Amino acid sequence: MSGLTIKQVTGNIGAEIEGVDLSGPVDASIADALRRALWDHQVLILHDQFLDIAQLKQVTALFGPLQRLPYVEPIAEDPLVIGVRKKATDKKIAVFGGNWHSDFSFLEHPPAGSLLSAVEIPEVGGDTVWSNQIAAYETLPDNLRDVVEGRAAIHVGKPHGVKFAPKGNQRSTIKMVRGDPEADRETFHPAIRRHPETGRRALFVNPVYTSRLDGMSEAESEPILDRLFWHATRPEFSCRHRWRAGDLVVWDNRSTLHFAVNDYDGSDRLLYRTTFSDAQRPQA
Ligand code: SIN
Repeated sequence: MSGLTIKQVTGNIGAEIEGVDLSGPVDASIADALRRALWDHQVLILHDQFLDIAQLKQVTALFGPLQRLPYVEPIAEDPLVIGVRKKATDKKIAVFGGNWHSDFSFLEHPPAGSLLSAVEIPEVGGDTVWSNQIAAYETLPDNLRDVVEGRAAIHVGKPHGVKFAPKGNQRSTIKMVRGDPEADRETFHPAIRRHPETGRRALFVNPVYTSRLDGMSEAESEPILDRLFWHATRPEFSCRHRWRAGDLVVWDNRSTLHFAVNDYDGSDRLLYRTTFSDAQRPQA
């Protein structure tokens, strides 16, 4: 018996976990229960954890090996940790993760999941939203399912490359590499992927990194991808987290999209972020 309690936060995604303190050594039965809960609910929310950097890394390792992210500057103290920070003086500026995406899907091995640990949170705003891509797959209209079933989608590192580089002066809250032609390299992943832990199938496309569908040009793919993105982010597949300092959230990157809501100009926000890796490439 692990002793933790699991309370769903919506009908389709997300659960609050109570009865566990992750600041010290974690019993194997609790670690197992947390992993199981993550595969079942896709997003886990744990309040009042107040983890320091070392503790956050230890908790991350319960879910998988820590992964260093390319293209994004980590904190000075640790290459495996990113400081997701927006300052009160950062106004009218893009935030890290401020559009629907699954993390780094343009890599050959996209991460298995990520954690955010809340340090400083605006009084109002700065929520994060996740969407369950298993639910999105299971409710795909037949005409969309027929197009993506058995087909690969192509992902590129659009924000970091040349071909799809965002136009204009890109002021962002986080330092990241831009203009790298290597990031334009196309990576093929199944548009519907099978979760390695549960065998459940999930839609695996996102507006930040998916450029086209295999066998189609970008122009041919665009109206289909737009319909897929619209379906993938329907409110009934999503949960929205209102952060409190001390919160820890873990999510499964293989079966969710997420979105950082940028509605708190004039307030400070800081969360530390880690990522754990996947042993295998996405499988159909
Ligand atoms: C992200 O990891 O994409 C950012 C999430 C957030 O800042 O809410």
